[in-house]
Amino acid sequence: MSMPAKPDKYAPVITIDGPSGAGKGTICQNLANKLGFGLLDSGALYRLTALAVVQQGIDIKDQVAVATIARALDIQFEAGEQGVKAILAGHDVSRDIRLEETGMNASVVAAYGAVREALLERQRAFQQLPGLVADGRDMGTTVFPSAPLKVFLTASAEERAKRRYLQLIERGESANLRAQLKDILARDEADSSRASSPLKAAEDAIVIDSTAMPIQAVLDKIMVLAKERINA
Ligand code: DC
Repeated sequence: MSMPAKPDKYAPVITIDGPSGAGKGTICQNLANKLGFGLLDSGALYRLTALAVVQQGIDIKDQVAVATIARALDIQFEAGEQGVKAILAGHDVSRDIRLEETGMNASVVAAYGAVREALLERQRAFQQLPGLVADGRDMGTTVFPSAPLKVFLTASAEERAKRRYLQLIERGESANLRAQLKDILARDEADSSRASSPLKAAEDAIVIDSTAMPIQAVLDKIMVLAKERINA
């Protein structure tokens, strides 16, 4: 999928925000498939920015230089057999953006107000008919404040660490449960305490705690809400 230029204000948006590891990615992909809607993985934009910064040898602490990279990002998202492919400057970087190191760097660049500003219009451009499922931290609060359905999906830090751990093991990567928990807590702290668009539920968001809920139950619940709110 290449990036459209102007948002379509008639296209309904479902925002799904929440902390790392709450299951947003899986839920959003399933929802978008079920509804035939587009999908915005906003975290991928921060990950792509972080990757471009490293690839170009820019100092990640240099906020002005990092924001310049974000503004000029040459990216495309393409539907592939194993989900959406992320293309940076013509190269498939789908695997690189998922590395733990890229995630940590993404949380550094995501704290810069100028980077968030640079990525705002790109994100809004994903609002196209027949509709959009937007996955992130500030989809309901900042990017799509008038979305008709906002969900804040959360789970206990222990449960999220366990899910991440199992995911890594499944991918054949080495993992350590205690290290995962430490990482999740550090990322929660970084995402929630930053001044610019911190992670928090929109006032009109419906909070779903998935700690003891299977994915299917979360999906069913959001589908019922989607039918009520946007006639989906
Ligand atoms: O969801 P994720 O793990 O791919 O996100 C990567 C980083 O980007 C994470 O530290 C949170 C940040 N992020 C953000 O600040 N705002 C968003 N809308 C999405 C992600």
